[in-house]
Amino acid sequence: MEKPIVIALDGPAASGKGTLARLIADQYALAYLDTGVLYRGVAWLLLEDGNDPNDAALAAKAAKNFDIEKIENADIRTRKVGAAASVVAANADVRAALLEFQRRFANEPKPGLKGAVLDGRDIGTVVCPDATVKFFVTASADVRARRRWLELSPSRPTLEEATVYKDLVERDARDAARDDAPMTRADDAELLDTTHLSIDAAFAAARRVIDGVTRRCS
Ligand code: CDP
Repeated sequence: MEKPIVIALDGPAASGKGTLARLIADQYALAYLDTGVLYRGVAWLLLEDGNDPNDAALAAKAAKNFDIEKIENADIRTRKVGAAASVVAANADVRAALLEFQRRFANEPKPGLKGAVLDGRDIGTVVCPDATVKFFVTASADVRARRRWLELSPSRPTLEEATVYKDLVERDARDAARDDAPMTRADDAELLDTTHLSIDAAFAAARRVIDGVTRRCS
C-alpha cells in the first residue's frame, strides 16, 4: 500500500489553519482532523461537570476516557472553553492520552482517501514529525483577533474585539511557554504568514508547496 500523505498545519490561534486545512483536505482527497477539538472537548467535559481544568489528575482522567462522540453537540467554541483548553493542553498526561488517536488518524487513511490533514500546535513537531508537508501558519495578533471577532460576534453581539485580542495573546503565550509539546515551528515547516493574504492567496501558496513536495516524492 502507498504511504499516506500527511499534511501538518501548526500555528497560533485564529491564524487561518482550519480554513486552509479544510481546503487542502478537499483538494487532495484527505481526511481532516482539527486537533484543537480534542483539547477543547476535554476542557468542555471538565467544565460541564463543574471541575477545575487546573486539576491535573481530573484532567488526565477526562482525557483518558475521552470519546469524541460525547462532545458532538457541545458548544466548544466559546472563550471560556478556549482558555480552559489551553490549560489542559499544558498537562503532559492529557497530551499523552490524546496522542494515539491523532497518530492513528494520520497514518490509517479512511477508504477512498489518500491520507490526512491535521491542524494544531504540535503536529509537525510531535504528533507527525515525518509528515509529508508541514506548515507553520501565522498572522499578526491584530489580524487574528479581527478574524476571530468577526467569526464569533454574530452569535455574541456584545463581545468586544479588544477582549478577543486579549484572549488570543494570553492563550498563545501559554501554548508557546509550556514544557510539553510547546507551540513552535518545526525546523522543516514552511512559514505561511497570512496577515496580508486572502484565503484564496493563502490556499494557492500552500498548494504550490504541496505540489512541489508531492511531485518530488512520486
Ligand atoms: O481554533 P483556535 O486556533 O482558537 O484553537 P484550537 O486549535 O481550537 O486549540 C485550542 C487550544 O488547544 C489551543 O490554544 C492549545 O492550547 C490546544 N491545542 C494544543 O495544545 N495542541 C494541539 N495540537 C491543538 C490544540
